[in-house]
Amino acid sequence: MWVAQTLAAKIPDARALPIPALIHNPEKIPPAAGNVGFIFPVYAGGPPLIVDEFVRTIRLQTADRIFAVVTMAGAGEKSTYKRINAILREKDRQLDYANAVIMPSNGIILSDVTPEEKKQKIFTTAETDVKTIADEITNCATGWHTKSNPVFTYFNGLIYPFLRKEFGACDKDFSVTEDCSACGTSVSVCPVDNITLEDGYPVWHHHCQLCLACIHYCPNQAIQYKNKTEKRGRYHHPEIPSQVFKKQKSLPEEPEETKNM
Ligand SMILES: Cc1cc2nc3c(=O)[nH]c(=O)nc-3n(C[C@H](O)[C@H](O)[C@H](O)COP(=O)(O)O)c2cc1C
Ligand code: SF4
Repeated sequence: MWVAQTLAAKIPDARALPIPALIHNPEKIPPAAGNVGFIFPVYAGGPPLIVDEFVRTIRLQTADRIFAVVTMAGAGEKSTYKRINAILREKDRQLDYANAVIMPSNGIILSDVTPEEKKQKIFTTAETDVKTIADEITNCATGWHTKSNPVFTYFNGLIYPFLRKEFGACDKDFSVTEDCSACGTSVSVCPVDNITLEDGYPVWHHHCQLCLACIHYCPNQAIQYKNKTEKRGRYHHPEIPSQVFKKQKSLPEEPEETKNM
């Protein structure tokens, strides 16, 4: 989300519109015009399910150029570009420009978060990369740019078709410990309203995106995935507090308000 907000602020006349709000209001998705981009994280070598669905839904006939900027911890950007491009090809369009920004890892169901000292270096590089990407998009650059080792990316891309089927119901392996204070943060950060509170405790409803926001933003580290996450750290971008997620779920009234989101 930090990359989307920063790009929108650096590209003249850009507006960042949140997919979680638009996906439930397909009739409000305006026919895209000008430069249209999709900015999202790489999950298991491909796009999150909600992004896949959104790219299928949006009308792109009037877009001049289409770009994607992905965030990732280290691999999978090329297979992700290919998957978005395949959807666009069904609409007789193509991904004209694609680039990736390396961010700290939040995939704690697989491995621990990025260590603190490495995280700061990643943020510094990301600042520079986002500025370069904003300039390239503004200047209508074309081509697909990669940042990871092609071998890792190749193998990373192979797992997506198998894992994507599991995403929705993977929340059956989430649990909440007695440290839960029933604050409702998990409900408010979930981009797809997959969580309700019952007797004060979060309950998951099996249309998960596997973004892990509920786990990372829980102020008491009370949400766990299987027995994998108890000893692992938590991460979210320091400039994206949990309150920002609420805004992502409703469309801004005035276009001006979206400009610097
Ligand atoms: C379920 C899941 C799967 C992920 N898969 C990948 C992956 O295949 N390749 C990769 O480089 N990063 C992967 N990540 C890491 C995220 O893409 C990365 O940490 C994220 O883009 C951080 O962005 P942020 O700082 O904007 O939240 C995955 C994260 C999650 C939660
Ligand atoms: S916030 Fe939690 S329940 Fe909601 S989509 Fe993300 S991982 Fe799934």
